[in-house]
Amino acid sequence: MNTVQVKDKQFALYISEEKLLNRVKEVAEQLNADLAGKNPLFLVVLNGSFVFAADLLRDITIPCEITFVRVASYEGTSSTGEIKQLLGLTQDIKGRTVVIVEDIIDTGFTMKELLHMLEEKNPAEIHITSLLVKPGNLKVDLNIPYRCFDIENDFIVGYGLDYDHEGRNLRHIYQVVE
Ligand code: IMP
Ligand code: MG
Repeated sequence: MNTVQVKDKQFALYISEEKLLNRVKEVAEQLNADLAGKNPLFLVVLNGSFVFAADLLRDITIPCEITFVRVASYEGTSSTGEIKQLLGLTQDIKGRTVVIVEDIIDTGFTMKELLHMLEEKNPAEIHITSLLVKPGNLKVDLNIPYRCFDIENDFIVGYGLDYDHEGRNLRHIYQVVE
């Protein structure tokens, strides 16, 4: 299937499932090597990361813990605009090695805010792994060594990522056809 329709848009095959799985395994092996003995806590950021996390974490072979969080945004009552909050983190992360598992880093604002919220809880270290990064859109300074693919700025869907709530279950990643 080289093109799919999701709602009102056409999408073309961009990264195949096979390519995704091969690269995800490489990144998992890097994490296994770098974080051995640290009993990392993987923080999977829902919803978009669920497919990436399921594949990545089954290739993690070192002792680790896995939990799921959500970053919710709501409009502030003042002119400060959008405020983000962290939902679902029940573990104490003080002194822990934390690995944030994200689907995509676009402007990077979500990740930057998440980092601030986690740093207040005094973990020993925070690493970021992201399936996708759009370097052309990145607006903040972020260190993302465990990234699987750098992609163009165009909108993509599939392998967990949605277009208006649909398309998360597509096996491959597809790019919008303008
Ligand atoms: P950021 O704060 O701009 O980095 O936005 C990150 C969030 O935007 C991701 O977690 C996604 O939910 C969403 N996003 C950004 N680009 C795409 C895309 O191409 N497809 C689907 N969702 C996207
Ligand atoms: Mg996300």
